[in-house]
Amino acid sequence: MTFQVLITDPLSEDGIFPLRQAENFELTVKTDLTNEELLDEINHYDALLIRSQTSVTRAVIESAPNLKIIGRAGVGVDNIDLSAATENGVIVVNAPDGNTNSAAEHTMAMLTALARKIPQAFISLKNKEWDRKSFVGVEVKNKTLGVVGLGRIGSEVAARAKGQRMQVVAYDPFLTSEKAHKLGITKGTLEEVLRAGDFISIHTPLLKETKNLIDEEAFKLMKDGVQLVNCARGGIVNEDALYDAIVSGKVAGAALDVFEEEPFVGHKLLTLPQVIATPHLAASTIEAQESVAIDVSADVVSFLTHGLVQNPVNLPSVSKELMGKVAPFFDLTEKLGAFVSQLIDGIVEEVTIHYYGDVAGFDVRPLTRNTLKGLLKGNLGDHVNDVNAKYLADQIGITVNEHKTSTTKSFTNLITVSARTKHGERSVSGTLLNGLGGRIVKVDKYYVDVVPEGNLIFVRHQDQPGAIGRVGTILAKENINIAAMQVGRTNIGGDAIMMLTIDEYVGGYDVNQLKELDDIFDVTALKL
Ligand code: NAD
Ligand code: MLT
Repeated sequence: MTFQVLITDPLSEDGIFPLRQAENFELTVKTDLTNEELLDEINHYDALLIRSQTSVTRAVIESAPNLKIIGRAGVGVDNIDLSAATENGVIVVNAPDGNTNSAAEHTMAMLTALARKIPQAFISLKNKEWDRKSFVGVEVKNKTLGVVGLGRIGSEVAARAKGQRMQVVAYDPFLTSEKAHKLGITKGTLEEVLRAGDFISIHTPLLKETKNLIDEEAFKLMKDGVQLVNCARGGIVNEDALYDAIVSGKVAGAALDVFEEEPFVGHKLLTLPQVIATPHLAASTIEAQESVAIDVSADVVSFLTHGLVQNPVNLPSVSKELMGKVAPFFDLTEKLGAFVSQLIDGIVEEVTIHYYGDVAGFDVRPLTRNTLKGLLKGNLGDHVNDVNAKYLADQIGITVNEHKTSTTKSFTNLITVSARTKHGERSVSGTLLNGLGGRIVKVDKYYVDVVPEGNLIFVRHQDQPGAIGRVGTILAKENINIAAMQVGRTNIGGDAIMMLTIDEYVGGYDVNQLKELDDIFDVTALKL
């Protein structure tokens, strides 16, 4: 199979080299598609690689039935409809580290250029003026830099500002006193940071919560003559409020790399001499572009070939070490989910997955997702995958419980999946036998030893002579060949079960006919 990859924003050729080299990958580069053209183009691609220019809307995702992965060569994923991606089982990966340094360097360059009015002086000089009076700046030494958002880039900016002998005060909901102490900065509330800064630099993502974070009210809190830098995302700073604050003299200057709408040309902010700007260039260095393209290319290849990624955005990250431990359980957990979904009668309301023994020592979330995938696939089809299984379960209203017990009585590892519907609870347990693969070892209260694959018939009957023979005779009449059989009972003459492995799915034969036998209580045909 050849994976089709579409690249719609300019990416470093050196960075995508591994993707070009990868076996079974075909690359198409189309960097000037309109939104409508992208909708027409996307339908046969397995992967889409972008930077910040391409808008990956719900319509784009829903027009791409084969799409499995979106790679964002950069940090911000605000140009991707993440909910639509998750709902449609499309994994989104980004390259969070590759451009941190470049973005921090650009921020410091903007801050210095702003403080010293370098772009304005250069334009004047280009206009053949030798003006040494209009461009008197200020030093940054001993000034306070207020940092809003102290993640990767904010932290690097803070460290550089310290090197410039600035005082730094930062606000980030996740900033601990220890981290602030280590960086030699002061931790403050948003209000304290806005009040304290001679310069303020924004480094949050653009989220619902950060949209218009810096608005008219925020500007009122700031010092008169404050200077603002935004190399994070347009929309975090309200552009109309910034314009008014500059015109009123509250804000002495602003350095902007990002804008509410890009391309940003002809905006009134650009008419103000106090504003300097670059066209979203903070990450535009040879090093950063190569690095982010390498990172996303590697994730695309790895995901499509082995299902592994380093930098997932809409799925919890799974380390290689953890993957090595949990991957052997994937087949078993999916089969347990599929088994119980076929056993139950009615709509699942609650699923409980209990991990016992060795497996309880791992982060089992990938296994829970996998179990849910198996459970939902029967009704929702191949559309269900690791990315959307939990989302779909939540949407349906299924309560998912996860329990762990480090000890087991008889197995080194045991996983029990129970599903509750209005009609009661059914459960199935499985174990992974060293070198032999998975086994179903218990169904409800009955112990069995069944390989979880192929076509099965589960029969609950009265333990009495001839019951097994009668079932065998009826199936033989229907030309259904029994390949293997397991029986289990709680006590002699009591409730018992048969697990029949048959050569072909029972197809047109209605297994419920077996119930016409007096000693058969319940029959279920299963396909794993
Ligand atoms: P990051 O995730 O490492 O850091 C973001 C920080 O913001 C986190 O620590 C988070 O806790 C914090 N935060 C979230 N909500 C907040 C709030 N309401 N108030 C204060 N802090 C809040 O991301 P990063 O890699 O440092 O990137 C920061 C920003 O820079 C992002 O918006 C990213 O898209 C942007 N970026 C822009 C360019 C560019 O070319 N201009 C390049 C790289 C990154
Ligand atoms: C980012 O979020 O990484 C930046 O927007 C960089 C970019 O892609 O230009």
